[in-house]
Amino acid sequence: MRLTPGAPHDIDLDRVDLFDLDLYTSGDPHPVWDVMREKAPLHHQVLPDGREFWSVTRYEDVCRVLGDHREFTSERGTVVTHLGVDDVAAGKLMTSTDPPRHTQVRRAIGSRLTARAVAPWEDRIRQAVVRFLEPALDGATFDLAEQALRLPALVTGPLLGIPERDWDELVQLTAMVTAPSDPHFRHGSEAATLAISHHELVAYVTERVKRRRAAGDEDGSLLDHLMSVHAGDAPLTDEEIALNGYSILLGANVTTPHTVSGTVLALVERPEQFEKAQADPSLVPNLVEEGLRWTSAACNFMRYAVGDTRIGGGTVPAGGAVVAWIGSANRDASRFTDPHAFDITRSGAKRQVAFGFGAHFCIGAPLARLTLRVFFEELLQRCGSIGLDGEPEHLRSYFIAGMTHLPIVAQKRKTP
Ligand code: HEM
Repeated sequence: MRLTPGAPHDIDLDRVDLFDLDLYTSGDPHPVWDVMREKAPLHHQVLPDGREFWSVTRYEDVCRVLGDHREFTSERGTVVTHLGVDDVAAGKLMTSTDPPRHTQVRRAIGSRLTARAVAPWEDRIRQAVVRFLEPALDGATFDLAEQALRLPALVTGPLLGIPERDWDELVQLTAMVTAPSDPHFRHGSEAATLAISHHELVAYVTERVKRRRAAGDEDGSLLDHLMSVHAGDAPLTDEEIALNGYSILLGANVTTPHTVSGTVLALVERPEQFEKAQADPSLVPNLVEEGLRWTSAACNFMRYAVGDTRIGGGTVPAGGAVVAWIGSANRDASRFTDPHAFDITRSGAKRQVAFGFGAHFCIGAPLARLTLRVFFEELLQRCGSIGLDGEPEHLRSYFIAGMTHLPIVAQKRKTP
């Protein structure tokens, strides 16, 4: 998705189609969301097949929809690609479960993903990032967007206890689940792509659980942890373990790579920001926050209104699907001064909501932040210059804001 908006132009809100995939590949969504925040903070759209949804685009409304399960439930599904089809995993998959059950499961799983719990991973992540960057810095064309898809596997693969030989296949399957319309990942129709990839991923995790049980030992992995935790009084069922393992895999694989590529592109387009970060490495944590805000890789999440609910100056009827546009909230001028400027020294960048808000706030945020910090520390230390070597190609998805190709040419830094 284009992240630096083009010139403002007239936008007819009655004709805006937020499910038009061209908007995210060749179009320019930010000017559309700018107008929606100003003139239609609650926007209603009916799709040609009759499905309908409401959109909120303002920062405070996005936080309210994502954060208040009493008004907006996660139990019917939270991902727009499933709009109108109730989630069969509700109550079993953490993401599609409301408190209090959600709190029990999340507390049990989350203890292994806190900032303190992932800190010992830093050296391992750094080694993986250094290996990843090596071929990028030899002066030849390097497709960062394509290569970055493998980056989370280097981190979450060992964390989950998934053997390296399976990573490529899992990267492909997770990309199919989140961008089933993109020609790079599509297998037949969008529905078929979704069904195949979802089934294969859950089957993969189920099989791993079986093997781990048969092995009868402990490998210290997150999957082993999932197999041993108790939520409330009972252990997770095998189905819950498989679904939550799948969800962690998905959450990790599909977002971090696009944050990397989008942030690198922002730096390539603004050499003064690149130089500033290189001159002062203490800016890297803020660069990461600004990169998260700027890219908003998880562009939206969905909820269903529990009852008739007033929001954004209008009313969503009971049962209505509400899409909270995170990408828009992160450019809301009421929260971020000059929101379309990419500024690594921005104060308040940490208020970004790229990881969501409230009870479902990204459980992998500490790991993602650690991975991104290490990535940019190493990139800035090792890389003298980066340029584009072709046009970026954007992911064909209204759910994940990302790129499929970002050809760059980078040179090693002479005096690190
Ligand atoms: C830059 C990277 C990432 C971004 C932008 C991101 C974004 C998000 C967002 C917006 C949510 C909230 C969903 C909702 O409200 O319904 C979320 C939840 C989640 N994320 Fe992430 N994520 C990232 C990295 C990760 C990683 C590394 C993992 C795994 C280790 C992960 C696993 C999850 C899981 C399991 C949930 C569901 C949490 C719950 O329902 O309580 N994510 N993520």
